Amino acid sequence: MKIRLHDLNFVPLISEEEVRRRISELGNELFVRLGDKNPLFIVVLNGAFMFAADLVRAYNAPCEMAFVRLSSYSGTTSSGTVTTSAGLNTDIAGRHIVIVEDIVDTGRTLHVFLDTLAGCQPASVTLTAFLRKPEAQIFPIQVDLTGFDIENKFVVGYGLDYDQLGRNLPGVWVLESQSE
Ligand code: IMP
Repeated sequence: MKIRLHDLNFVPLISEEEVRRRISELGNELFVRLGDKNPLFIVVLNGAFMFAADLVRAYNAPCEMAFVRLSSYSGTTSSGTVTTSAGLNTDIAGRHIVIVEDIVDTGRTLHVFLDTLAGCQPASVTLTAFLRKPEAQIFPIQVDLTGFDIENKFVVGYGLDYDQLGRNLPGVWVLESQSE
């Protein structure tokens, strides 16, 4: 079955059932690591909203949540990259942090954010990504827990969008290749 979003066709990649099973495993793995430590889940908006909602429900102990919006773009500074974060009002010094991200592609966005966080002296940082594209990663960040590793192809669903469409799909769909 295909779906059409704007001008592009997408085909199923990961079913709702597979997603549900994997999130339950991730919740358990996080509980084993952080169970009684009252971790602070920092959710990277917009794409991680659905993953975060399911992940914290699979996390069977007290925890807190905060939300950030990160944007990165090529600018005119010497580094060529500017990243801003907004919305992180909670004091994170000494806290056990779980970063919740939708997908790690090149890793650029999180690379800069992780540097910023390290300066705030958290007790620990656990980076959790729903999806990862290992072939696309350029920046050296370590993803501690990954939902699924996927090929370097454009995907939508479960929070991820194509020009704002597709976020509400309960599973993951991939751009149809020209041969299909
Ligand atoms: P990075 O900084 O290159 O790792 O890019 C991360 C961000 O790019 C993600 O948080 C997504 O918002 C977006 N992104 C990367 N790949 C995809 C994709 O396949 N579908 C939708 N959004 C994507």
